Formats: sequence, structure tokens, C-alpha cells
Amino acid sequence: PARVRIRHLQDAKDTGRRFAMLTSYDQFSARIFESAGIDVLLVGDSVGTTVLGYDSTVHTTHQDMLTFTGAVARSVTRPLVVADLAFGSYQTSVADAVTHGVELMRAGAHAVKLEGGHAITDRVRALVDAGIPVMGHLGFTPQSVHALGGHRVQGRDHASADRLADEALALQEAGAFAVVLELVPAAVAERVTEILQIPTIGIGAGPACDGQVLVWQDMAGLSDFRGAFVRRFAEIGDDLRRAATAYRENVEGRRYPGAEHSFE
Ligand code: KIV
Ligand code: NA
Repeated sequence: PARVRIRHLQDAKDTGRRFAMLTSYDQFSARIFESAGIDVLLVGDSVGTTVLGYDSTVHTTHQDMLTFTGAVARSVTRPLVVADLAFGSYQTSVADAVTHGVELMRAGAHAVKLEGGHAITDRVRALVDAGIPVMGHLGFTPQSVHALGGHRVQGRDHASADRLADEALALQEAGAFAVVLELVPAAVAERVTEILQIPTIGIGAGPACDGQVLVWQDMAGLSDFRGAFVRRFAEIGDDLRRAATAYRENVEGRRYPGAEHSFE
């Protein structure tokens, strides 16, 4: 099947078709999500918290992003692969943003995502000018967790909702092809979705967004994160625990391996 392109996401918005995005950081999850028809795979800097054991994405490095972007990009042919610019890889300067964006594209990404609004529109424009499609990310922006004072819904009062809408428009104006809205009141996400020409992609942002994204380990019941906006569509953590327990019991009880698993 043909590669999903950013114009297909725009078509989806224009025709009222919703699309699904999931994070992925490795070969097997990427292939499974491709076969499930997921249009967009996000190599999120959440790899730092889901895979690498850090307590926030502040610790995820650009080198981490290159490694996991390569793994996902090598594993699929249809989904659009979006890679996060790591904390520290674009805040420092426009030139740093372009240099690291180029490296993510060379690693196999088809687009990059970065967090923030007015503060980074110059980076967004420079990346787009360099031929790198950019996805924005507003609302709760995890790389700023310490500045924001924890995981909190953003845009709750009128002033901050207006600011969020302004920032979304500024990202669109700077050339972004889509904007993630994270932990935003449903009514605010709906308003932003209406005023933007480009697609919005929600996570904890209600049902009105053009697309939806979840961290796959949350969606599939592997992590123990149970945010109010997460629906667990499977309990693969329980399945995996049962499998590992059965394996251990069979090894310890000398029931595995048997003759049928042995070479003459
Ligand atoms: O890194 C990530 O997983 C993300 C999504 C939650 C949007 O940025
Ligand atoms: Na991220």
C-alpha cells in the first residue's frame, strides 16, 4: 500500500475522516500497527519514559531519537513516521533545530514534531523552509513539565484558552501541517479544530480533534499509567505476565524444553 503522506491527513480533515496515530519505538510494534491500519506512527520522546526508564522526557536525547526513529522507519512501508525533536535539540537556536531535524529525516522520519507555540515559530518556519514537514504540539507540553508545575490540563481559563488558539494559528502560519493538543479541555480543542485549516490531533483533548494519538503501552495495557483520557484496548501486560509465569513454571518443573524442542 502507498505511503501515507501529509496531504492525506489534510484530505482526512477536509472530508471529515478521523485518523489514528500511535507511538512506536521498535520493529515489532511498528509492524503490528502498520498491519492494523494505523496511519501515523510517532516515534515520541516518550520513549524515554516508556522504554528507557526515565521519569520524564527531559532525559530523552537526540541520539535516543535517532536510534528509535531508525528502528521504526526500517520496519514499515505505509505509515507516516513522525519523530520528536528531543528536549535541548531545538530550544537553543534555529540552526540547532534544522541540524537535528535533518538528522531525524536522515534516520528515516518523514516529519518532525516539536513542542511550543510563539517561542518556536521561527524554528518551525526554518524547518519547513528546509523541506522538513513539522507537526506542532500545544497544551500540556511534557518537555516543560517542570515549568508547568506537573501534568496539568492547559487552557482552562479564558485567557489561556485564547492564548492556546493564538499559538495554534501561529504554528499553522509558520507552516506546520498538523498540531497535537495534549491535556486541553474538550471545548477548547473543538474551537482550535474549527479555526485551524490543518488537522488537530488530540490526546486528552476530547472527541472533536481531527486525529487521535495515544502512547501505545497505555492503549494496550502494558504501562501502569491510567490517566482519565486513556482507554485500555487490551491488557497485554497481564498476558505477558501469564506467559512469563508459565514459562518459568515449565522450566522449573522440567516440562520445557521437551523432546520436540530438541535436536537429534
Ligand atoms: O512523545 C509522545 O508520546 C508524544 C505524544 C504523547 C503526543 O509526544
Ligand atoms: Na513527545
